Amino acid sequence: MHIDLCELSPSYVRSIAPYQPGKPISELAREMGLEEKNIVKLASNENPRGIGPRTRAAIEAAIGEIARYPDGNGFELKQALARRYGVDMSSIVLGNGSNDVLEMVALAFLGPGRAAVYAQHAFAVYPLATQARGARAIVVPAKDYGHDLDAMAKAIDAETFVVWIANPNNPTGTYALPDVLEAFVRRVPERVVVVIDEAYNEYLSADLRADVIKWLRRHPNLVVTRTFSKAYGLAGLRVGYALAHPSIADVMNRVRQPFNVNSLALAAATAALDDMAFVARSFAANLEGLQQLEDGARRLGLDWIPPYGNFLTLRVGKANEIYRRLLKRGVIVRPIGGGYQLPEHLRVTVGTAAENDKFLSALAASLRD
Ligand SMILES: Cc1ncc(COP(=O)(O)O)c(C=O)c1O
Repeated sequence: MHIDLCELSPSYVRSIAPYQPGKPISELAREMGLEEKNIVKLASNENPRGIGPRTRAAIEAAIGEIARYPDGNGFELKQALARRYGVDMSSIVLGNGSNDVLEMVALAFLGPGRAAVYAQHAFAVYPLATQARGARAIVVPAKDYGHDLDAMAKAIDAETFVVWIANPNNPTGTYALPDVLEAFVRRVPERVVVVIDEAYNEYLSADLRADVIKWLRRHPNLVVTRTFSKAYGLAGLRVGYALAHPSIADVMNRVRQPFNVNSLALAAATAALDDMAFVARSFAANLEGLQQLEDGARRLGLDWIPPYGNFLTLRVGKANEIYRRLLKRGVIVRPIGGGYQLPEHLRVTVGTAAENDKFLSALAASLRD
């Protein structure tokens, strides 16, 4: 008898819609017969400036030890993070990208009979991590594309163990101001873990940033997540972290894979954290790039959602069609219909000035086609 092996996995796993990553440059080159060097990828909110020389040197130095397992406790990186943020090392959990620490929260706190609250249009990993644990998703309709924190507080029920918040959010780029966010955290019962995902934190201007790490002392149910994939330019190495009360960090570390962060990533992140000048330049270049994209969108008569990250979310009408026309012109962006429920919008990552220009002229032509 033939068994459909897929049927053996729990139904909540089978019904997961797989994560759709940005199309790789090599794939588009194969599909369209284009040369890779003529393709611009602005689809995954990566840093177009690459990495700084100190980070590169640290990676090269770490290659010599690659035959050995990495430090499973990530001592040096944790020590550097503890110093930077004035937290105890027992409050830090390292991840293979911040996705990994988000998954650890789900593994540690969710399961059948439990629920998680998140906003419509929120980052795709929240539905994935929630569903993979067999937990119930409570999806709260967005307000002006962003988190409706009042409605989210009201949506928390007796089965809710986790609230996911991306601030700024991807793919909308919306941002909840610090006062409003902390007022929300105060309303959440202490038995509910609130994840504040700050993947784009380094792209916020200093006056807008919330001092969420200080909040950890007042709110032991908070988990703050950050990443080296964006402003630090290390998306390919996969390294991120969570800061939380030691008892939450402890349970997350229990579900963490023993060597989840590789040795090159540990060395690179430790060096990159120190290179404040590189992050400052990435921040400044991002502001200029956003301005360039907004000016271009204005010239084309398009609306956009006010951006707080390293990407702009534009309303272009039939977004899937425009996405395909852009692909033919060698420009990869991200359509956000489907799970994100924004079928009229495209998300474009801030690239170099030349990449932004190429995108804007391809967009102008694609809107005319
Ligand atoms: C809001 C948000 N959180 C987390 C991540 C995960 O990033 P990484 O796993 O590379 O740290 C992303 C990546 O795009 C993101 O947009």
